[in-house]
Amino acid sequence: MKGQKWYQQETVVESYEDKRFSRGGGRLTDRLEKEAVFEKLAPIEDKKVLEIACGTGRFSVMLAEQGADVVGLDISAPMLGEGRAKAQRAGVDDHLKFMRGDAARLPFPDDHFDAVFAIRFFHLADSPEEYIREMARVSNEQVVFETYNRFSGRALYNWALPMGSRLYSRREVETLLDAGQLYLVDETHEFVVPFGLYRKLPGGVAKAFRSAERGLDRTPLGDKLASISYWDAAVE
Ligand SMILES: C[S@@+](CC[C@H](N)C(=O)[O-])C[C@H]1O[C@@H](n2cnc3c(N)ncnc32)[C@H](O)[C@@H]1O
Repeated sequence: MKGQKWYQQETVVESYEDKRFSRGGGRLTDRLEKEAVFEKLAPIEDKKVLEIACGTGRFSVMLAEQGADVVGLDISAPMLGEGRAKAQRAGVDDHLKFMRGDAARLPFPDDHFDAVFAIRFFHLADSPEEYIREMARVSNEQVVFETYNRFSGRALYNWALPMGSRLYSRREVETLLDAGQLYLVDETHEFVVPFGLYRKLPGGVAKAFRSAERGLDRTPLGDKLASISYWDAAVE
């Protein structure tokens, strides 16, 4: 598993959100990712949700604010520390619980949640099947996950990143769904311009880029070139 040690380091954790989501294009991608998660999981109110690899709780806190009953699980104590502080500031710590744990061995009984999801996680996995199986096991209804795509702009520079990322073809995602005994309900393909590049752009430029690529995003060509996909699946 890539990144397990990386996200234990205080310096990495302290700068995690600031570096990626606090300004310009980064802030825009944070908002768009939250909208995508919200849309996939809606209706949110009173839904029992598990987020695996929740990190600093970007999505867990947002969902708790919308009335979901949320558990955020992550292997990194410092990332969870940031999440707990955020939940307290947002006043949602009564229906959001953060737990330390390994997503390969979820400490919950079968069918315990209505929805289980993971964002910015599967690109780190060496053996993603073990994670999808666990997600499917503890969900009684819905599993949502995101992948970084093999045939996208990301492939051009992925090799140069310190950790690199696992990139997925559609076929690999289908194999993953089979491993979890899941069937696909909905899919969304976004970001022809990968979000790693977005975060280098000032806010105004990022917005202009986004509206230009939005048109392309919604076409079959845009779907093929998109750097990320959200997969919304149901348990069989
Ligand atoms: C790129 S961060 C994403 C955090 C969050 N999902 C987000 O989008 O902001 C990846 C996270 O995966 C967590 N992680 C890595 N391996 C894990 C594992 N086996 N079980 C649970 N969490 C894990 C890391 O600690 C880190 O917080």
